[in-house]
Formats: sequence, structure tokens, C-alpha cells
Amino acid sequence: MLVSAKEMLEKAREGKYAVGQFNINNLEWTKSILLTAQEMNSPVILGVSEGAGKYMTGFKTVAAMVDAMVDSLGITVPVALHLDHGTYEGCYKCIEAGFSSIMFDGSHYPIEENIEKTKELVKLCSEKGLSLEAEVGSIGGEEDGVVGMGECADPDECKSIADLGVTMLAAGIGNIHGKYPANWPGLSFETLAAVKEKVGNMPLVLHGGTGIPADMIQKAISLGVAKINVNTECQLSFADATRKYIEAGKDLEGKGFDPRKLLAPGSEAIKETVREKITLFGSANKA
Ligand code: 13P
Repeated sequence: MLVSAKEMLEKAREGKYAVGQFNINNLEWTKSILLTAQEMNSPVILGVSEGAGKYMTGFKTVAAMVDAMVDSLGITVPVALHLDHGTYEGCYKCIEAGFSSIMFDGSHYPIEENIEKTKELVKLCSEKGLSLEAEVGSIGGEEDGVVGMGECADPDECKSIADLGVTMLAAGIGNIHGKYPANWPGLSFETLAAVKEKVGNMPLVLHGGTGIPADMIQKAISLGVAKINVNTECQLSFADATRKYIEAGKDLEGKGFDPRKLLAPGSEAIKETVREKITLFGSANKA
């Protein structure tokens, strides 16, 4: 059964660790992440962007697949199925499709409109027992064609959104989706501390988890980050392992072209990435 992310994130915040959100793109991704979370006895959040949802033929397909896979693989650790960077309309579609957690990304709206829309979703999600993530201050880089400049969030705006009763808050602190440029100045811990000061105990979310140095991850967790999103790193390790398989000519040996064989090295590589992240975030044995 899929669960809301509320309880796992509150426990993470109390226990000073973070739960990983790993984005899924297909069946292989989902299977690798679920099996690794189970192996490490860690709670896990499966993130689905609107683009990935469309690729997988719609949110209903995704919810049905994940729900059935949790059951058929005998997964007993807590699993939340979460819409990543949802539009207002996308949030409603995912709620209807059976997601257990939603992110409404209203960061590109004027703050009043972000507040208005978030308020409506808080009401609906609390009626249905779903967790809700809101965003203030856009995350840099590109995701699904949306380019953000990575501005830092205004702590007072964070408080206005947190006070609406969302479950967790993503505040921009100089983090970027995708690879970090060589001249990246690092996370703004000053902003993070100021946001934490305003929002108190609210679990904070760090997007752009790929490529952030371990010491910055640990410091962010010590300042209230309880959920860390990882997408690009799984994509890179999948692509790298697949390329090596093909370059070694393994797809031409025997039945190496069988998609189940062709996709196996990439799926194993994702497991290794997820193991590393769960270890770094400290969520192993916290299920
Ligand atoms: P990365 O792709 O940089 O790991 O970021 C993922 C993310 O934040 C998804 O919302």
C-alpha cells in the first residue's frame, strides 16, 4: 500500500536524516528503486514529473503499476508515490489517479496566487490523507523544459506558505536540477537557516540532489532538510552502464539484445546509486 510522506518525513526530521525521493521513468527504474529501499530497510519516495507521467502513458498507469509492484515484490518499507513539480491541474489528476503525495510547484506564480492555489490543495490533500509539498523560490537548471534561475527563497514568503499547513516545503537555496556548473557557488546555508528560523519544524526539501558534495548534504540535513530529490544521477548511471554493455558488444552476444538483458546493467547501476544515496542520507534501517 502506498503511504503519505508525512510520517516518514517527520521521523526523518526528528532523527536528523533525510528520505530520498528518486524519480522514476519506467518499470525498470521503479523496480530497482523499490528493491533497493527494501534491501536497505529504508522508507522511499518515488517521484514522477509531469513529463515522465506522460511518457508512461498517464498518471493512472503509473499509480496502478507502482501499487501492483509494491504488492508483487513484497515491499514492506513505507513507499510514497509523489508528483514532482506538479502544475495545479496535474495535482488534481494525480489525486484522482491514486498518488499518495503531491508537489504543487507554484513558485512561478506571484506569491498571492501561489498562496491561493496552495491553500485549496492543502484542504483537498488533508481531506484525502495525502502529503503536500509546496515550493518557494525557483530551483535552478532545467526540468521538463522549464528553466529556473535558481533564486533563493524569501524566508517570509516561506512562512506564509508553510503556515497554510503544507506537509513539507521546498525552498530554493541555490540548488540546481541536473549537473552543477564548475563555478557553482554552493548551497546558501544562510538562506536555509533563515527559512528554518521562520518555518520551525516543517520538513524542508532539497531538490537537485545530484552532485551536491556529501558535507553540504549533511549540513543541509542538520538545518532541517528531511527529503532530498535525486533524478539526474540515476539517469547518468543508467546511461553509462548501458553504453558500456553496448560498447563491449554484449548486445550482439547470444541473446544479449533481449531487452531484459540489455536493460539489466543499467538497472543494476541505478540500484548502486540508490544504495549510495540512502547511505549518505542516513535513512537505512529507518523503515
Ligand atoms: P537532479 O536531477 O539534479 O537530481 O534533481 C532532481 C529533482 O530535484 C527532482 O525534483
